[in-house]
Amino acid sequence: MCGIVGYTGERNTVEVLLEGLSRLEYRGYDSAGIAVVADDAIASRKRGGKLQVLRESLDSAPLPEGSIGIGHTRWATHGGPTDQNAHPHLGDQGRLALIHNGIIENFAALRAELEAAGEVFESETDTEAAAKLLGRAFRETGDLTSAMLQVVGRLEGQFTLLAVHQEQPGVVVGAAHNSPLLVGFGEGEQFLGSDVSAFVKYTASAAALDNDQVATITPEGASVVDFSGAPVEPKRFEVDWDASAADKGGWSSFMAKEVSEGPEAVENTLRGRVVDGSVRLELGALDDAVLRDLDRIVIVGCGTAAYSALVGKYAIETWARIPVEVDLAHEFRYRDPVLTPRTLVISISQSGETMDTKMAVQHARAQGARTLSICNTQGSTIPRESDAVLYTHAGPEVAVASTKAFLAQVIGQLLFGLHLGIVRGTVDAATVEQAVRELRELPEELRRVLAEQTQVKELAHWMSDTRSVLFLGRNVGYPVALEGALKLKEISYIHAEGFAGGELKHGPIALIEPGQVVFVVVPSPRHEPLLHSKIVSNIQEIRARGARVIVVAEAGDAAVLPYADIVLRIPLTLPMLEPVLQVVPLHIFALELATAKGLDVDQPRNLAKSVTVE
Ligand code: F6R
Repeated sequence: MCGIVGYTGERNTVEVLLEGLSRLEYRGYDSAGIAVVADDAIASRKRGGKLQVLRESLDSAPLPEGSIGIGHTRWATHGGPTDQNAHPHLGDQGRLALIHNGIIENFAALRAELEAAGEVFESETDTEAAAKLLGRAFRETGDLTSAMLQVVGRLEGQFTLLAVHQEQPGVVVGAAHNSPLLVGFGEGEQFLGSDVSAFVKYTASAAALDNDQVATITPEGASVVDFSGAPVEPKRFEVDWDASAADKGGWSSFMAKEVSEGPEAVENTLRGRVVDGSVRLELGALDDAVLRDLDRIVIVGCGTAAYSALVGKYAIETWARIPVEVDLAHEFRYRDPVLTPRTLVISISQSGETMDTKMAVQHARAQGARTLSICNTQGSTIPRESDAVLYTHAGPEVAVASTKAFLAQVIGQLLFGLHLGIVRGTVDAATVEQAVRELRELPEELRRVLAEQTQVKELAHWMSDTRSVLFLGRNVGYPVALEGALKLKEISYIHAEGFAGGELKHGPIALIEPGQVVFVVVPSPRHEPLLHSKIVSNIQEIRARGARVIVVAEAGDAAVLPYADIVLRIPLTLPMLEPVLQVVPLHIFALELATAKGLDVDQPRNLAKSVTVE
């Protein structure tokens, strides 16, 4: 959702801001704008539509370069995606510019108060009230940081704010309340951003603000205070990927590139955690004593992350013999779940900023449960609010549709399941050794799967007019079916549903008519003969009703051949690891089908990469 960048330094500020905004485009937005201070005056430009519209406007009528500035991509909440509603918004008679992520819930009351005091509003946004308030506070205090500290006390909701004032050239001030803000530390220049991609091209040295803090940057450095004004020392970290990792690198789309990066995502997530034929995780506060004392686990997440959690459930229950529930984060948060200090709530999130998931984690902590974050984004909010974090190292994921992050999330949970089983003594060394061996082989196997997808690509092109696709799976294949369906509906806008095979006769089979395409994710006949025979029965049932069946089956599974129209093969592995391989053809199918339809696979309609509002 909204993206934020701020800069102070010697570079051409307009260029730095546009570069930052282009790196934040992946979050999803529908208007964009920038403001710089040049010659002691604010100059700003904002446009509805994509960044390109703003660029064209700046090309035809450039702004001065400036030496401080703020930039914003807006995902409309209050008021449509128009030029007027785009950020920045001005205060103090145009001497101050402000941008905002989040929602100011009491904006209507503030606006009424400000209008009564003579302020004139130009937009329908909640943000403009904050700009006007900040302008008035600046007139009282003469200092942007003091003014910001005054204003944050009046705002309800969640927000990151960034502001510049023409009477304080060199200074950019940011505030964060339940919304992320990071500082980027450079030499003679400093940055602010809603995530590190906003500035990683210029510096890898960063710090994430904690909740309720205000950062002030000048070319010389950054200072941070809490909302009471007390100084705090931000915890610095080095970003472990460089800007080129977030470039398309010759691929037709970020999604295509990210699907191809699956093997590295798995390799990097395993790195350092699989040693001498065993698994060892450093989980800080979740030490062995805490892990042994647990009596229940709840895994929460949304969308793809929640489907990865369903795989995690099977693996953790199998290896650690502890009851595991999976809940959609938003359902968990609002249903008064039963939680105790012996419950571990694991949150899964690529971005680490998903509001629904964050609220679930906060609720779990408030109820006294332990919390573990499995997250892909360093310095993001959810890991900071959890007792411990297991970072997946999938690298930046830019395409809205999550692909390589799903693989890494599954791997993270498999590692945790093994670690927990070892700590609790529920898994024997031979089982761990075998799992570790198979985990190590996964990257190579993934490379083979990726190299063998000509058939699925042709299939997708041939099916570009299809109106509905169903997906079936059992056991760990069930979440794969759900994920296949989500990916297809999300980027190709085709109706797609995933079902558990056993559920077929309880309703979904009514959907089967001649020609209906059904993908079936088939478990291994070697490891799961019973499940395998049950899904073969499911295939026969749908075939008998005229379905066209595409199966994803392990190499050598001959039993599916008589019933399948098309067989997509995956290498042999352990059942718990199969989803990592099975999901790849489904991701590629969605990607190719959406491409064949001429759609923007990286930024599907109505969706944002980082869902930072509930
Ligand atoms: C689907 C997709 C979404 C996300 C979900 C959670 O392709 O990308 O369903 O998985 O919004 O996002 P994170 O993992 O960032 O919490």
